[in-house]
Amino acid sequence: MKVLVVGSGGREHALILKLRESPKVTKIYAAPGNGGISAVAELADIKATDIDGMLAFAKEKSIDFAVIAPDDPLVLGMGDAFEAAGIPTFGPSKAAAAIEGSKVFSKNLMKKYGIPTASYETFDDEDAAVAYLKAQGRYPAVVKADGLALGKGVIIAADEKEACDAVHAMMGDKIFGASGSHIVIEEYLEGPEVSVLAFTDGKTLVPMVSSKDHKRAFDGNKGLNTGGMGTIAPNPFYTSEIAAQCMETIFLPTIEAMRKEGRPFKGCLYFGLMVTKDGPKVIEYNCRFGDPETQVVLPLLKTDLFEIMEAVHDGRLGEIQVEFSSQCAACVILASGGYPQKYQTGYPIAGLDGDGQVPGVTIYHAGTKRQDGQFATSGGRVLGITALGDTLDEALDKSYKAAEGIAFTGAYRRSDIGRIC
Ligand code: AMP
Ligand code: GLY
Repeated sequence: MKVLVVGSGGREHALILKLRESPKVTKIYAAPGNGGISAVAELADIKATDIDGMLAFAKEKSIDFAVIAPDDPLVLGMGDAFEAAGIPTFGPSKAAAAIEGSKVFSKNLMKKYGIPTASYETFDDEDAAVAYLKAQGRYPAVVKADGLALGKGVIIAADEKEACDAVHAMMGDKIFGASGSHIVIEEYLEGPEVSVLAFTDGKTLVPMVSSKDHKRAFDGNKGLNTGGMGTIAPNPFYTSEIAAQCMETIFLPTIEAMRKEGRPFKGCLYFGLMVTKDGPKVIEYNCRFGDPETQVVLPLLKTDLFEIMEAVHDGRLGEIQVEFSSQCAACVILASGGYPQKYQTGYPIAGLDGDGQVPGVTIYHAGTKRQDGQFATSGGRVLGITALGDTLDEALDKSYKAAEGIAFTGAYRRSDIGRIC
């Protein structure tokens, strides 16, 4: 099978390394991929959102199966285009990807089907949003842009001024473009956060091992929100009791709701959860694998990923036994100085072998390129250093030890991954 993986980050590197383990997979193309991915897949320089270009490439190479990893091509309908061209694809349709593509859609879905989430109101008028905030007077308040905003469309406002500024920035100044034409204002939830990725063919849902992201840039959960600075799996707060509760009150009701709405979800559904004192609630859905959650979840997967993806596509996930290792995994991100704001790229990376790896751990490349015969930085998040262990401490120690041996100008990382709630 010739497989095309669309995307270019650490998540895509993790998907590709896992797909390579399948005896059925003979060749992998990555578009656009990155420097580290070039050691294990053939790259095609096509933008992840270029549906026509991607489809033409897939036809030219007679691709047998496509995996669309990032949110934006899915929300734009790349999955539908591939399926219409007869190329079996892992990734939801455009209609199903709205579960991530529109927060107004997903919040209304949860309300309609009684799925626990933060209470909320939606607005398409700035004055009405401000009047609501003033009438409520409850802080912190959470202000969310409706559409995709590179993971930055959520503002947690500590007081009325911050909340009104957030509304104005989104709806008036359009800092997230059209994504901010509609907004959601919702209740602030407290509790540990848990990420659960699940395979689903629209009828059967199989949760993967749970994980925990660390979204803020700096130690002590300080600094700006990032795409994620490190992950661990399993998530220590996700007990089997909470898992059972999630299955009954959130996971199964969600896929049933999507089916009833005529938008059956097939692919990887990501549940961003808050374990509150009133039970688990949904913070957000994503229509795809998380990044960097995938970098700790997939290394623990024992079952052939390609077979699972085919079964999801064919609607026979119920026939597959999906197994995970009982080990723990930790991923520490090395980022460019300045990320998630302005940063420089093009710095050579010291400490990697010719394939961009280090013995004893797996280095998932997120933002690297090959330059003058070596690896160099090309993005905000640069590398994800993943290690496994029989305990979380063992995994973290291995990952941090390996991180010490890797250097580039301006590199920074958090030192409390897995050690903070
Ligand atoms: P999102 O982009 O939806 O993942 O949100 C980014 C982060 O904002 C989440 O990971 C949470 O830490 C936080 N967040 C979002 N919604 C809420 C909420 N209702 N209450 C508390 N924190 C939230
Ligand atoms: N790590 C969070 C996300 O993938 O959205």
